[in-house]
Amino acid sequence: SKAVTVNTLATLRNAGEKITMLTCYDASFASLMDRCGVEILLIGDSLGMVCAGHQSTLPVTVNDIVYHTASVARGTKNAMIVADLPFGAYGTPETAYANAVLAMQAGAHMVKIEGGAWLADTIKFLTERGVPVCAHLGLTPQSVHQLGGYKVQGKTTESADLLKADALKVQAAGASLVVLEAIPSALGKEVTDMLSIPTIGIGAGPDCSGQVLVMHDLLGVFPGRKARFVKNFMEGQTSIDAAITAYVTAVKNGSFPALEHCF
Ligand code: KIV
Ligand code: NA
Repeated sequence: SKAVTVNTLATLRNAGEKITMLTCYDASFASLMDRCGVEILLIGDSLGMVCAGHQSTLPVTVNDIVYHTASVARGTKNAMIVADLPFGAYGTPETAYANAVLAMQAGAHMVKIEGGAWLADTIKFLTERGVPVCAHLGLTPQSVHQLGGYKVQGKTTESADLLKADALKVQAAGASLVVLEAIPSALGKEVTDMLSIPTIGIGAGPDCSGQVLVMHDLLGVFPGRKARFVKNFMEGQTSIDAAITAYVTAVKNGSFPALEHCF
């Protein structure tokens, strides 16, 4: 196998092959996931919850992301490394760029930012300067206090239309990838069909170009509330290696997500 690039993702999407993504926070798991053929490792700001024990992702800093990104990069051979820019790190294009540079210098190949239309200028600013961008739409956890909780998004015609407009705007601004979190499956399919760039779903139905899970959820070790879209892939397996392989297989053959994981 060889290094996964933005071109690989486009090729997989156009061939109808599902893209696999998992969150990863350290070198040992990076090495394992890379060997299992996971295409994208995400240093998610979920690390604030699953590693640091916070109640939300808001306390996560750029330094936290840089430390974990450098750790993941040291364990990775072929996977693409995507780093979340945390809450407060991309309020303006200039701030976003300065923080994206730190993440890229730590080993990221792309940064992920939460939001739609309001980020168009930032996405253009970053991509013009050599920083590929993944946009995150739907349930955006950094906005939990604005959203009034961790709720499924895009359930009304009005909010679904807004999300579709956001997806078109981030694509036009230069985004290479879009994460769709906690939206109805039908909307996940509509957005995926509408865009020419790949979509990665988490609670966005089976028709996205790929899927992502938080590794602690996949391994069944997160003690908090379990979202509907979570599946514990350790069930029926006797090693972490086998569980991650089972996840990759299930995403590739379309058996995950099943109806029970969807909205
Ligand atoms: O932080 C994270 O883990 C994420 C994924 C759930 C997409 O953003
Ligand atoms: Na995140």
